[in-house]
Amino acid sequence: MNEFQDIDLTQIPQHIAIIMDGNGRWAKKQMETRTFGHNAGVEAVRQVVEGCVELGVKHLTLYAFSTENWNRPQYEVDALMTLLVKALRAELKTFQKNGVKLNTIGDLGKLPNNCQTQLLDTFEATKDGDRLQLNLALSYSSRWEILRAVNSIVKDIRVNDFSEEVTESVFKTYLDTKDIPDPDLLIRTSGEFRISNFLLWQLAYAELYFTEVFWPDFSKKELAKAILDFQKRERRFGKTSEQVKS
Ligand code: FPP
Repeated sequence: MNEFQDIDLTQIPQHIAIIMDGNGRWAKKQMETRTFGHNAGVEAVRQVVEGCVELGVKHLTLYAFSTENWNRPQYEVDALMTLLVKALRAELKTFQKNGVKLNTIGDLGKLPNNCQTQLLDTFEATKDGDRLQLNLALSYSSRWEILRAVNSIVKDIRVNDFSEEVTESVFKTYLDTKDIPDPDLLIRTSGEFRISNFLLWQLAYAELYFTEVFWPDFSKKELAKAILDFQKRERRFGKTSEQVKS
């Protein structure tokens, strides 16, 4: 079965961002632990990464751990960190084979040392990947990122004689996503309709796609549905429909 047969390969979003939600509810439905749900979520990550490589998507940004997630029970935080290290180790060969380059956004210094080490090793080992950049948002929140940018600009004005006008393109250089194009498509799973402090600046013109499917059930087929929906939209960026068509 080819999940992607109906997709127009000339209209592929170059950047897809995903809020992976519903691991806990998926697990609860089958009377399993939340950790079981997160483990199952890794398989969905694998499918989506592979799907993006096949389709020629250039950037995939996954909200893997938010700043607010530090407030979860310690056992769950620990389980997620352990899972991250395990998944990075297990996926390395596939990343290399598929041309996947790993990148992160967020406050990496907050992660346990073994996670930081594993991430740095994986950055190095995948740095030549030129098909898909996988951006994991880890200890990330958009307000944190924007405030840090503002504080860096203030510091540059005070200390480094910065005197340019702060335009959108200047501001962008202070964000973790400075080298990443804005997302074209945001997907959120599990029937929630929120942005949850994710890429607030960058999502300004993204198409939003919400699905009831819990993250562990998200598959290449579900990715295809989201992209087909995206391809039906008319992206106007503030212009009229006539202007866009002419
Ligand atoms: C949200 O589901 C999911 C997360 C907070 C973590 C996402 C992590 C993974 C998919 C696994 C590890 C990821 C990588 C990149 C290796 P939830 O727990 O909030 O679900 P609920 O709303 O049903 O409780």
